[in-house]
Amino acid sequence: MYEPRAMLSEFVKTWLNYVAKELLKKKVALAALEHIKSDSLVGLGTGSTAKYLIEGLGEKIKRGELSNITAIATSKESHELAIKQGITMLELSQKEIDIAIDGMDEVDPELNLVKGLGGALTREKLVEAHAKKLIYMADDSKIVDYLGQKAPIPVEVIQFGLAVTKAKLTRLELKPVLRLKNNQAFISDNGNYILDCYLNSKRDLEELANQIIKIPGVVEHGLFLNMADIVYIAKEEQIIKMTRDDK
Ligand code: A5P
Repeated sequence: MYEPRAMLSEFVKTWLNYVAKELLKKKVALAALEHIKSDSLVGLGTGSTAKYLIEGLGEKIKRGELSNITAIATSKESHELAIKQGITMLELSQKEIDIAIDGMDEVDPELNLVKGLGGALTREKLVEAHAKKLIYMADDSKIVDYLGQKAPIPVEVIQFGLAVTKAKLTRLELKPVLRLKNNQAFISDNGNYILDCYLNSKRDLEELANQIIKIPGVVEHGLFLNMADIVYIAKEEQIIKMTRDDK
């Protein structure tokens, strides 16, 4: 039955949850932003949390609190946003990145991550594997007991031979599903497809990562193992900092 009051209250609840989550993302992004120092080459992540980081960085540069900052983005979207914020953007080169900061989709107790629900996993891995210091950030909904518990593992594959690549991923006891956007296959910034691979149990991550990357047609996977130096988690009023040394 149509109940306008109940519908309105549901709408208000959803909206308040959304606002609360956005505030958490902003808060955690601003905590991570503190790590960026003047004279740095910065790797900029992708996603809604990284957006707050990029905006915050642009504001700090405008206020003169940071100088001589150059950056490399992990997606076209972040690149464009950074340009709008007045950040000097570079292409990835052999010059080592001083610090990279990004969002994430899952983090386990060992600080291993799943990334790529935004579709930027390949550029994220390239940029972040080239950084001296790596910081990730998210709200506490991204904490899991084991990777794959809530999110699929995104795997970027070339378009040619999709059915064969998919069959090989299925043989690894994964359930690959072609990612769609507006009822069409999602195409990454690199012109590739994404197969979201669902796990049905806890797996040996190193072994799984090695098996996936060996499949012809696979470009990259969203398992970011032993990479994070610091993970910031926003939980209610708190920002929790986890570092490799805590392990
Ligand atoms: C992008 O491909 C992902 O790896 C993102 O870092 C991830 O999806 C986090 O996005 P949110 O900050 O929007 O949750």
